[in-house]
Amino acid sequence: MKLFNSRLAAVNSILLNATLAAAQNMSFGANNFYHSDNVTLWPITFKTLYQTEVAGNLFIPDSIDRNANSTHSALVIGHPMGAIKEQSANLYATKMAEQGFITVSLDLPFWGGSEGKPRNGVSPDLYAEAYSGAVDFLGTLEFIDRSRIGAIGICGSGGFVISAAKLDPRISAIATASMYDMGTVNRQGLRNAQSVDARKEIIATAAYQRWAELEGAPTEWAIGTPLQITNSSSAVDREFFDFYRTSRGLFTPAGAMPNTTTHRTLTSNTKFMNFYPFNDIETISPRPMLFITGDQAHSREFSENAYRLAAEPKELFWIPGAGHVDLYDRIDLIPFSKLVHFFRTNLGGN
Ligand SMILES: *[C@@H]1O[C@H](CO)[C@@H](O)[C@H](O)[C@H]1NC(C)=O
Ligand SMILES: *[C@@H]1O[C@H](CO)[C@@H](O)[C@H](O)[C@H]1NC(C)=O
Ligand SMILES: *[C@@H]1O[C@H](CO)[C@@H](O)[C@H](O)[C@H]1NC(C)=O
Ligand SMILES: *[C@@H]1O[C@H](CO)[C@@H](O)[C@H](O)[C@H]1NC(C)=O
Ligand SMILES: *[C@@H]1O[C@H](CO)[C@@H](O)[C@H](O)[C@H]1NC(C)=O
Repeated sequence: MKLFNSRLAAVNSILLNATLAAAQNMSFGANNFYHSDNVTLWPITFKTLYQTEVAGNLFIPDSIDRNANSTHSALVIGHPMGAIKEQSANLYATKMAEQGFITVSLDLPFWGGSEGKPRNGVSPDLYAEAYSGAVDFLGTLEFIDRSRIGAIGICGSGGFVISAAKLDPRISAIATASMYDMGTVNRQGLRNAQSVDARKEIIATAAYQRWAELEGAPTEWAIGTPLQITNSSSAVDREFFDFYRTSRGLFTPAGAMPNTTTHRTLTSNTKFMNFYPFNDIETISPRPMLFITGDQAHSREFSENAYRLAAEPKELFWIPGAGHVDLYDRIDLIPFSKLVHFFRTNLGGN
């Protein structure tokens, strides 16, 4: 046993060194903070139906004629769950704007520059509503063709954009990348690893925590990306850590708490237990849906399930060798040309 333990320690030490070497893995063109000289960024705000303010960035290709009325297509792009628009969403928005689309990246309500209390709160309905608020906004710009608005959701926003599209036929084409169904993962865990009893315990803890916090207890956080990697950190934790906790993807706006990126408040996180984005997904048809996932992604089950349940036209597009977080920022792996082709085909040429 002792021998075994020391061998294990040696293996752990090798693994730990490998982890340190892998921190800030910038391979495959990782470039979360990509900037384009051909695109102009305008900070914007717009309102949800409930009159809460959403912060976004409007990206306009320098090449387009803004005096041409109602002629341009546009895309709304949502960030990974627990992130902000500066993480992944701006990159997608910039890259798609380079190809002639007018794009909006947005902060989901309760996150980044968007209104909502508590900060880092969870409300899947309001997340989906933010997409519709962005469509409202885009439709008021004279140079945008209201019939040519599409949307992209990355990670958790993949579920939120589906939820939004079910109630908003103004979203004419939908693409997701590394989609996470935040409902299923909170109820059942990845690959059904979480029992109903475990779910009930989480729900009860969160419910009783409401009284504790009313009586002055500090805010409790639901699980999110760890602040440190230890020998026992899971592969999934390491993957998220490499993006959110290193200069590869770390972005902390003034006044924000760096350590709470990706951490949702415990009391609101259980709202995900009532979130079923794939119920009625087939009613989005005949609007087209494109689901993009890495074949190595720990989240691939969500894209597979959504694809299975959606009605035609639909496509499941695999990125060989790519993991979940790879599609946040690795520009050599994210299939921008596929996205451009999908939206040009389905929204009309640009
Ligand atoms: C990780 O493993 C190394 C090598 O066995 C050991 O020296 C170190 O204390 C371990 N660290 C933690 C946090 O367990
Ligand atoms: C860096 O990331 C790529 C893409 O996920 C992966 O193939 C590669 O093995 C990683 N390198 C290290 C040193 O972890
Ligand atoms: C930016 O615009 C210039 C001039 O039109 C063009 O040559 C270049 O390819 C564009 N770059 C990108 C990344 O689109
Ligand atoms: C665009 O439409 C608006 C409102 O109908 C009109 O006032 C404006 O003159 C139009 N601009 C052009 C360039 O046609
Ligand atoms: C954030 O986390 C790091 C690493 O655990 C810790 O050293 C630091 O004190 C924390 N900062 C705040 C403001 O809590």
